[in-house]
Amino acid sequence: MSGIIYADNAATTRLSRCALDAMMPFLTDDFGNPSTVYAPGRTAKKAVESARFKVAAAIGAKPEEIYFTAGGTESDNWAIKSTAALKKEKGKHIISTAIEHHAVLHTLQSLQKRGYEVTFLGVDRAGNISLEELRSAIRPDTILITVMTANNEIGTILPVKEIGEIAHEAGVLFHSDAVQAVGHIPINVAQMNIDLLSLSGHKFKGPKGVGALYVKKGLRLPSGMHGGAQERGLRSGTENVPGIVGLAAALEDAVTHIDANMTKVSVMRDALIKGLTKIPHSRLTGDPVNRLPGTASFVFECIEGESMVLLLDQNGICASSGSACSSGSLDPSHVLLAIGLPHEIAHGSLRLTINEDNTQEDIDTILEKMPRIIQRLRDMSPLWEEKNAEVK
Ligand SMILES: Cc1ncc(COP(=O)(O)O)c(C=O)c1O
Repeated sequence: MSGIIYADNAATTRLSRCALDAMMPFLTDDFGNPSTVYAPGRTAKKAVESARFKVAAAIGAKPEEIYFTAGGTESDNWAIKSTAALKKEKGKHIISTAIEHHAVLHTLQSLQKRGYEVTFLGVDRAGNISLEELRSAIRPDTILITVMTANNEIGTILPVKEIGEIAHEAGVLFHSDAVQAVGHIPINVAQMNIDLLSLSGHKFKGPKGVGALYVKKGLRLPSGMHGGAQERGLRSGTENVPGIVGLAAALEDAVTHIDANMTKVSVMRDALIKGLTKIPHSRLTGDPVNRLPGTASFVFECIEGESMVLLLDQNGICASSGSACSSGSLDPSHVLLAIGLPHEIAHGSLRLTINEDNTQEDIDTILEKMPRIIQRLRDMSPLWEEKNAEVK
């Protein structure tokens, strides 16, 4: 991808060199199945266990609390559906938010069809929930609170530690989808009162199609996949050894450099925010302070987000929009509607997500090109014409 400015790291990231190096032996010579007893199998098994140890260390967990999966979607599905099954005698009420990823939202909707009740907490303009509202939503039959650690579209970081405290005071389990947070901001499951946490390799420069679910010790979560005895019988299927090894190497690297990366990336993010909010009729989406270091998200009035993404692409810049066409529907993203944006404004959304591999030059180029792109699109927009006529 030489010559391209990649600013869509919330969608996926480039595999890091250290992850690739760690994976290579397991894609070539060390191809053994970890369930076999001879030497190549033992080598693979040892690599998986070492990866488990690294992932646990990265999030303040114990190795036996980490289960490898095929990514964030599987981890979310497993955590929510299995908790629902585990606790069905206690009740069928779950609390979540209106801004969760579809991996959580659609899983909850599938449970609603099976007789579970879900309270979706609304959020304020910054994408934050009210802890008071959370507290009063808890009922005697509430079995699970599932709230994401950080939002994938607007970057808002939610008060997970406090949410976990409230859940535990009420004797309710707490799951957090931390797919966008792990490797980018410090996470400690014990300090943050988390019982179940989902993470995904490709969001922090690991490979795609591999993730993990943290399950607090003592929680007897039913199996996520039936079959062989892998992952202590809870997640059957031959392990994705290269993927698991690559995920662990990438995460170890991310956590080792987390402070320096957060500082470097947030300086570039703030430059994007400062520069792009100078464009008339634009605004930042998400919390201005409590946001992921790499997420700069906006709405621009009288613009279609999708056309912005296409023009940016023509200019060699990869970005994304939470609006209409990207999700294959005519509605703007549920997250942008939940923070109170009217439909017509939510359609003009743009998400730029950077990481430590971006440079100041990338930021300068984006800042130079964006105003012209916006102007070009507005010049073609009947809405812009109407808006200007109103002003005159
Ligand atoms: C917050 C969040 N949860 C879950 C997922 C799904 O993860 P995966 O792509 O590993 O299935 C994503 C991916 O974009 C995400 O951003």
